[in-house]
Amino acid sequence: MTIPTTAGTGAEVTPFATVWDHGMHKKHSLAGPLMFPDIALLDASLSLTLPEEATLYPGLDAVSHALESLWNRNCTPISRALALESLKLTVEALPVALRTPADQVAREKMQTASLMSGPAISQTRTAVAHSVSYPLTTHFDVPHGWPAASRCRCCWR
Ligand SMILES: [Fe+2]
Repeated sequence: MTIPTTAGTGAEVTPFATVWDHGMHKKHSLAGPLMFPDIALLDASLSLTLPEEATLYPGLDAVSHALESLWNRNCTPISRALALESLKLTVEALPVALRTPADQVAREKMQTASLMSGPAISQTRTAVAHSVSYPLTTHFDVPHGWPAASRCRCCWR
């Protein structure tokens, strides 16, 4: 079972996980059918107090997942529909969630957007933007789906 507390990576419904070793500047990917969660429990109330960065960066990751799925050579009618709906929801809800963090409806839409872009990339995989992003994150601390590694995750400073 997965219970996402941010909205965007889609990890709650994909067979993918990453382990970042920032000291060694390495990103390790884990993938396999056994990693598909049996249940994803979405509760938008868990995200109502997220700081701006923990709302923005996962939300932008959802956008990237949807776009990379759309232009992917493995795109199918189903992955396309999921990605398009994810994009629509993100464009609609991310600005609202950033402006009004406690907006439950916006948070629910962001969770749904994440939930839809996850299966889209599960079918197509990501593309060049994600490949380029990994060294940017490990070497230059550019956020990917999560605020920069050098930031304290307790106080976000
Ligand atoms: Fe990502």
